[in-house]
Amino acid sequence: MIKSMQLLERCRMLIQKRAQRKPQLGIVLGSGLGYVAGLVERAVEINYHELPGFPVSTVEGHQGRFVIGELGGKTVAVMQGRFHFYEGYTMEQVVMGVRLLSRLGAGRFFITNASGGIRPGLRPGDLMLIRDHINLMGYNPLIGPNSSRLGLRFPDMTQAYSAKLRQLAREVADECSVELQEGVYAAVTGPSYETPAEVSMLRVLGADAVGMSTVPEVIAARHMGVEVLGLSLVTNLATGLSDKKLDHHEVQAVARRAENSLQNFVPTLVSRMEF
Ligand code: HPA
Repeated sequence: MIKSMQLLERCRMLIQKRAQRKPQLGIVLGSGLGYVAGLVERAVEINYHELPGFPVSTVEGHQGRFVIGELGGKTVAVMQGRFHFYEGYTMEQVVMGVRLLSRLGAGRFFITNASGGIRPGLRPGDLMLIRDHINLMGYNPLIGPNSSRLGLRFPDMTQAYSAKLRQLAREVADECSVELQEGVYAAVTGPSYETPAEVSMLRVLGADAVGMSTVPEVIAARHMGVEVLGLSLVTNLATGLSDKKLDHHEVQAVARRAENSLQNFVPTLVSRMEF
């Protein structure tokens, strides 16, 4: 833990020196949503491989860099490419990026992902505000010695996803004529997609959508007292809910098609956040 705090500190210093700005908001971009980083103005880019001890993303369609600049008139730091447990990273590596965002000064995160829709009525291309999550990864990123510099041993998760930020997101979506669903996101490790029986189980458990990310980052965020807004792009119906076989390229193609709605919604939403 001491070693990882030192690494975080070295990464923070390097980024601060290059970017010369303190981000107000940290943004994590999910599968196929990397183009949102292209909306950042006056951007400074820092590749993950330039950062000491920082993991490098291995998934197709995930670029690996921080993009720091202005979005909607606010200073943001975007993670374009995240780390998944299924890639073989430790949970500590999975959450290193969001810990770095917080050390850089971001007190609020906007975390996005791609998911499979479970609740009847959810369709590919739908945007779902995450109201709450279910951690089915069988692990927690806070397991191990607690660093009191980061947060409490037993962090509260009652408001994992800020009600205030969700309200703001709904208002902005209305103004931008973007349809927004809302629901519970269940996280599994993957990388295999779910079986039909697993999807039936997830529905019984109260999940509206399923994916392989976000939950470790949100746990680490709440540990540090960071406020979270979570947004899931439903890229497919979960297994068994349609005749189609699941394919990563299809997931990415649907994500790209959501570009139009997100291009206006995301900067407007960020511009309306008060810090
Ligand atoms: N299951 C798990 N993760 C996913 C899915 C899915 O159907 N779609 C996108 N990410």
